[in-house]
Amino acid sequence: MTRQADVRAALADPRLQVTPPAPGDGPMARLRRAVSRFSDGAEHTARRSAAVAEYGRIAVAALRAEVGARVCVELAAARGGRIDLMPAARAIPVGVLATAMGLQAGLSSEVSEVVAVIAAAYPPGAVVEPVPADRAVTRLEALLGHPEPGRFAALAVLLVQTCDATAGLIGNTLGQVLSHGARGAVDAALAETLRFDPPVRATVRIAREPVSIGEVAIPATATVILDLAAANRDPAVFAYPGRFDPGRPERASLTFGSGHRSCPGEKAAFEMAAGFVQAALGCELADIRYAPSTNLRVPSRLEVIA
Ligand code: HEM
Repeated sequence: MTRQADVRAALADPRLQVTPPAPGDGPMARLRRAVSRFSDGAEHTARRSAAVAEYGRIAVAALRAEVGARVCVELAAARGGRIDLMPAARAIPVGVLATAMGLQAGLSSEVSEVVAVIAAAYPPGAVVEPVPADRAVTRLEALLGHPEPGRFAALAVLLVQTCDATAGLIGNTLGQVLSHGARGAVDAALAETLRFDPPVRATVRIAREPVSIGEVAIPATATVILDLAAANRDPAVFAYPGRFDPGRPERASLTFGSGHRSCPGEKAAFEMAAGFVQAALGCELADIRYAPSTNLRVPSRLEVIA
């Protein structure tokens, strides 16, 4: 589905459910089975509430400055030379969030490392070596102080969902602002990048019974691809949808989903990306590359002259 109204209706429809987690016995498979992201109905509601409660303890307004300060340290160390910003775009937001969630600051870089391994193995259908992902989940449990399983799933889902998507938002926004010279209003550039070049392109649902949405009749058991990136360029909603225009008045992007499963971390993602982008505005773009992916648009390399 590509039209914004249809995608929004599909996201709100409880008959369209998320892809169930793959079977398995290891720590990674158990984590996938325990998080809100891959559950439905009452189980989803309870798990989501637990994650939202943990998120509620974070001082979100402080995240921008904290991320900005850590980026400045990285850039100062590389001053005048070339640096690939993507490792920092993956590590710093996760580390800052973990610290804001109460983890000892000295452990934040190890948390970022293990969360990156888990994030790569987390999406349904991910083809990765199981052993490193299982070890990473076990280590994350230890780093978080062995919380009871429900709390561990709530903390882990926040950290894992942060990793690639926030890195993609940072990389895609820097790609836009450093190449087009739109270095002024960071918040407007971020909001327009979320619409124009979202890090998460689509999400998938499975029809548990026949459903009709707009002009589409979906049979039971069909897999439905909700194309968030296309919905963000729906000409029924956006004037000149293919133009990158940070000054546009309409901003109804579906990049964070919508309805009962929408992203609870939107504000944190925005604040952390803003802190990163602001700190890197003085850099010169040298090279940007993307790794192939069916669903994510995250630079594999974003080389700048610091
Ligand atoms: C630019 C960065 C981000 C983007 C684009 C993004 C996007 C999304 C989307 C589209 C969904 C819904 C998926 C669906 O309906 O199938 C989602 C879910 C979720 N996101 Fe984010 N996200 C981002 C960052 C974050 C951050 C920073 C956090 C945590 C602080 C977070 C936590 C979550 C959680 C816990 C869920 C699952 C919600 C549920 O199960 O109901 N996300 N995200």
